[in-house]
Order: sequence, then C-alpha cells, then structure tokens
Amino acid sequence: MNIFLDTANIDEIKKVNELGLLDGITTNPSIISKSGRKFTEVIKEIASIVEGPVSAEVIATDYEGMIKEGVELAAIADNVVVKVPLNMVGLKAVNEFTNRGIATNVTLCFSANQALLAAKAGATFISPFLGRLDDVGQDGLELISEIREMYDNYGYETEILAASIRHPIHFKEVALRGADCVTLPYSVFAQLFQHPLTDLGLQKFIEDSKSINW
Ligand code: E4P
Repeated sequence: MNIFLDTANIDEIKKVNELGLLDGITTNPSIISKSGRKFTEVIKEIASIVEGPVSAEVIATDYEGMIKEGVELAAIADNVVVKVPLNMVGLKAVNEFTNRGIATNVTLCFSANQALLAAKAGATFISPFLGRLDDVGQDGLELISEIREMYDNYGYETEILAASIRHPIHFKEVALRGADCVTLPYSVFAQLFQHPLTDLGLQKFIEDSKSINW
C-alpha cells in the first residue's frame, strides 16, 4: 500500500521522505490555507522534494475555471495531480483532464456510486473520506470494501486513496480491505511505529547489553 502524507508542512514531509517511506502528498484548500503560504509556491516546493504524486486541488467551481486552474497546477511539475471535487462539473473536468493526459484525484467521495462514476470519468485516484463518514455515524471502512469490489468487478484501474484517516486502526483496516494508497496526517503516521512492548523490549536489551563482552 502506498503511503501519502496529508499535509503541506515541509518539515513533516522532509522527515518522512528521509525515512524512505513516503510515496506521495495530498493537500486540500484547508491544508494550504493553514500553511499560510502562496498556493503555487508551496506545491512547487513539495513537488521538488517528493518524487511521487502531489495532489493540488482546484478552487473554481465552474467547468472553465476548473480546467484553467487544473492546467496551471499540472504545469507546476510532472508529479502534480489535479484534485477535483466529486460532482457533475468536477467529473466533466476529470474527463477533459484525462483526455489531455493530466492525472486527477477525485475528492470528497462518500459513496460507492460516486466512486464508480469517478472511475468511468477516468480518475487516476479516488479519495473516499472515511473519518468524515464515521463522524456522521456511517461506516467509512465499509465504503473502502465496496469500492474495491466494484472496481475489481469491472477492472477499473482508478486507485483507491483512503483519506480522512483519524487513527492507526483506520490504517490497518484500509490495508486489509485492499486500498491502493492511504493519506495520513503526520500525527497518525508517527503513531504507526509505536507499541509499548517494543519500548519495553528495547529498554531490556539495552540494559542486558551492558554486560556483554565485545
Ligand atoms: C484528503 O485528500 C483530504 O485532504 C483529507 O484526508 C481530509 O481529511 P479530514 O477529514 O481530516 O479533513
């Protein structure tokens, strides 16, 4: 499973990239706004650090505006993926981006039907938002299983990019359910390494190693 970070924080991106575990980055308008930086500048910097796909979302809500912004974003670097919302206008734009050879990430997906339409439109990635479904009392993880089954039934190549991840159980479950990629906040990524028995075990090994003759 490919691991993406859901951030525009350069320090976090560099830290995970240096571990050799980073496959890509996703951003959204809220994340970019939190960075306090100019949109195109921050995307350019991220795309120069990370080899894999870097998602940058269009802000326009009309077709012409989405195409214009998407073309501009895609021109920033070869690894920029244009993120488009899942509605009629968005999928029309995805069709056009696909015809132009521009990679897309269809965002704000909350149902398997939406995911099927995005695949038909030629989306490179589909982003089901698990945490936000859980927040309103629906089963976010079940959505991953449904999309996996639908895509496999018809051989769609759109990659399932599990998003809105809130904790390590989400991570484990999306891997078990066959997501192609997952995008995580840095805090959840860091939690994946932790287990109290690892810490205790290491402490004991360090103590015992003091009486070893080298
Ligand atoms: C993914 O592309 C989104 O940026 C993100 O995962 C949304 O997560 P949130 O629901 O925690 O804002």
